[in-house]
Amino acid sequence: MSESATPATAPAPRIYARIAGTGSYLPAKVLTNADLAEFVDTSDEWIASRTGIRQRHIAAEGETTGDLAYHAAVRAMEAAGVDASELDLIILGTTTPDIIFPSTACLVQHRLGANGCPAFDVNAACSGFVYALSVAEKFITSGAAKTALVIGAETLTRMVDWSERTTCVLFGDGAGAVVLKADAETGILSTHLHADGGKKELLWNPVGVSVGFKENEKNAGLRINMAGSEVFKAAVKALDAIVEETLEANGVDRHDIDWLIPHQANLRIIEATAKRLDMPMERVIVTVDRHGNTSSGSVPLALDEAVRSGRVQRGQLVLLEAFGGGFTWGSALLRY
Ligand code: UT7
Repeated sequence: MSESATPATAPAPRIYARIAGTGSYLPAKVLTNADLAEFVDTSDEWIASRTGIRQRHIAAEGETTGDLAYHAAVRAMEAAGVDASELDLIILGTTTPDIIFPSTACLVQHRLGANGCPAFDVNAACSGFVYALSVAEKFITSGAAKTALVIGAETLTRMVDWSERTTCVLFGDGAGAVVLKADAETGILSTHLHADGGKKELLWNPVGVSVGFKENEKNAGLRINMAGSEVFKAAVKALDAIVEETLEANGVDRHDIDWLIPHQANLRIIEATAKRLDMPMERVIVTVDRHGNTSSGSVPLALDEAVRSGRVQRGQLVLLEAFGGGFTWGSALLRY
């Protein structure tokens, strides 16, 4: 086409993926720092001052990631006014699937009665929900899906070594979900994903199918291994960078962000990102004190709490971010 030629048709208007409803679910059992101190050499003072965590929820025996995901999904669909038959995509972020296969997304799909639509898991450790959200957003903006269910769900305490104080105090179980709908007005403005597989041994669970289950090494691969302070430094650095990347990509000033909804691993990491954004903590959603680190569950749990408590309002600018094993990290900027 020459420069002066007029296109035969006007460009199609942009389609956004907009959050139509949120939901979450936490198992009933609560384990406080004082409870932990009864069987591992730790204290409420140490855990609270180093992490901000005061308690976490623990899945009951027999209660699976898929169960938590299902309950969160039902609540998100109710909030969105969406029936299972309307779903044309289900993506579930998790690193603790019910079984190796089928995916937990397929198990949840069947239980919801949403059979027929594509359903799959995304394993990006603690960034799982942000990764899943980003993939679903691409389906919607490309026109491949109109209504998508995105879930982050974990039963991380299933692979915690309860005698290892450096990790067992950190994690909890829970799930959050959103229903995304195609919208002509506004929604997710951009998502940004990164990974660095070279750092895998700083935060990992080396049990596996293909590498073998290491049956002879008791607990060798059945627990989360983490080099805490190195992960801490890497998280702060990566989140600083991705926050800048997200603002720049959208031409948004950091003071324009209404709410920061970060991954809930450590209050000190959250405070570092808030400082970078020059945001008072009143505009940061914090659940780590009550939920601990629920990995993929943490961001959608915090989002649902923020929406249901009336803090996050329609039209506000919200920044989601996460960092986890892989390393993986990601962000999403959205107009709620
Ligand atoms: O979600 C995925 C991303 N994960 C993260 O972002 C987690 C990042 N890391 C962290 O949050 C922090 O590094 C931790 C909370 C895991 C650890 O905090 P820290 O300030 O980095 O402590 P540290 O590992 O340097 O340990 C300091 C001391 C050690 O004792 P010594 O060697 O100084 O005598 C530990 O043995 O604290 C000791 N310690 C504990 N003491 C009581 C470690 N865990 C405990 C505990 N209770 N639970």
